[in-house]
Amino acid sequence: MSYFERHIFFCLNQRENGDNSCAQHGAQQGFDHCKARVRELALGGVGAVRVNKAGCLDRCAGGPVAVVYPEAVWYSYVDNSDIDEIVEKHLKQGEVVERLRLPDHIGR
Ligand code: FES
Repeated sequence: MSYFERHIFFCLNQRENGDNSCAQHGAQQGFDHCKARVRELALGGVGAVRVNKAGCLDRCAGGPVAVVYPEAVWYSYVDNSDIDEIVEKHLKQGEVVERLRLPDHIGR
């Protein structure tokens, strides 16, 4: 068994030169909201869910992005309701939220 059942990483990268980055598209808000929801629902901890910050995940064109392991499912989200759905369906129940999946061809 892995230390965490599921691990979600949010890109919070901010490019100082003004180039496109997830931080320009609400990444911090998404991360903060996810942390809060996981806490409210008591989903966090060893053997459960961990929410982590990440630097650039190299899929900037789809930003803001997050990735959930061990399934290695990539998401692009817009607002708190998208985050709520990822938390409720994927982090809690293990169901992939197909409508928020980042298309495979989206890269940097
Ligand atoms: S800046 Fe977020 S994936 Fe690159």
